Amino acid sequence: MPAFDSRFARRFVRPTGALELMEDLGSAGPGVHMLGGGNPARIPAVEAVYRRRLAEIAGDTAQFGRFVASYPAPGGDVPFRATVAEFLAARYGWPLTERNVVLTSGSQSAFFTLFNLLAGESAAVRPRRILLPLAPEYIGYADLGLTDGMLVAQAAAIEELPDGFFKYHVRFDGLEAVPDVAAICVSRPTNPSGNVLSLDELQRLDALARNRRVPLLVDAAYGQPFPGIQFTAPGLLWNENVILCLSLSKLGLPATRTGIVITAFNATAALAPGSTGPVIVEPLLASGELDALCREVIGPYYRSRADAAVEWLRNDCRDLPLRIHRPEGAFFLWLWFPGLPVTSQELYVRLKARGVLVLSGHHFFPGLADSWAHRNECLRINCSQDPASVRTGIRLIAEEVRRAFAA
Ligand SMILES: Cc1ncc(COP(=O)(O)O)c(C=O)c1O
Repeated sequence: MPAFDSRFARRFVRPTGALELMEDLGSAGPGVHMLGGGNPARIPAVEAVYRRRLAEIAGDTAQFGRFVASYPAPGGDVPFRATVAEFLAARYGWPLTERNVVLTSGSQSAFFTLFNLLAGESAAVRPRRILLPLAPEYIGYADLGLTDGMLVAQAAAIEELPDGFFKYHVRFDGLEAVPDVAAICVSRPTNPSGNVLSLDELQRLDALARNRRVPLLVDAAYGQPFPGIQFTAPGLLWNENVILCLSLSKLGLPATRTGIVITAFNATAALAPGSTGPVIVEPLLASGELDALCREVIGPYYRSRADAAVEWLRNDCRDLPLRIHRPEGAFFLWLWFPGLPVTSQELYVRLKARGVLVLSGHHFFPGLADSWAHRNECLRINCSQDPASVRTGIRLIAEEVRRAFAA
């Protein structure tokens, strides 16, 4: 084993929340209830469409060539980029061409590039940072920076709702004063909470970013226009100050590693990413079939899975102080147990010992400096996997939480 002692190695060969998550994904065998991880569901009606596309590609010399037999342009497969631009222009009226669309090997790698292009050490006196205006926020942003301290976050305001639900809102009052900001970034719908920022909140963040002369990054990996796992707050925002990031992963194609970045600046200097996802999806997007699939199959599928999981949780946790973030999109439920006597990390360990994999909520507050009890009282569960397994997992979560409160 060589000694990895470069600066890069010290940053990237170390335990992180994302690594723990990926290792859990790898260790999930039979008998393990997989409520962790971010895998999308395997929906037969959706996979049937992709299988059909694969047969079409196999029988077509031109498509097969684009699929695996030729290097794409540096910014990614051009016909797909043109189709994405046309689709967004037709749907939202944005003035886009393929030059505004750049593909990356998964949107995760887009964030790595964007964060490090925008923030970190520079000629400025102090390193500039990415502002996450609503924490909790996506775990995957946490360890992308080539330098430490690249993220700064602001804790969300909590609105208690009827029926044991709650909802996060952006606290705008503190945001203007945050120093050394290079960009503002939000996931919408938000992983982990399933929160969907209203269009008004998005517009206010856009105005704030413009005032500060920094871009607004909007990560719509779960949202509109595809895969459309968004149950509220329709509408999306793009202008020359917004960098919109989309992905094919949550459409059920995570292994194609396809991220899509919509920007006003020409970013085609990126390394050529793979074309398999683009070639599968391109005619589906052009014909409207993908849109119908999102609207009629994918969105309703995840909605019904969230509804079922909420009902099971309510049923099993009647005697416990459970609050659930109102599910507005994505496919996670974000559970909050106010006053939880053990940390959520300890609860994660206990649940793992009982064969239930979840994610401890504390991972989802990257860049948040203050100690907020809330960050150790939450769990994220993926409710989109095998229903019987999710059902059992929820029963075991209730048992372990009950035991913690009884101790
Ligand atoms: C909010 C969010 N953004 C981005 C990603 C990265 O997706 P990918 O790299 O598969 O496109 C994920 C993956 O789970 C996510 O949850």
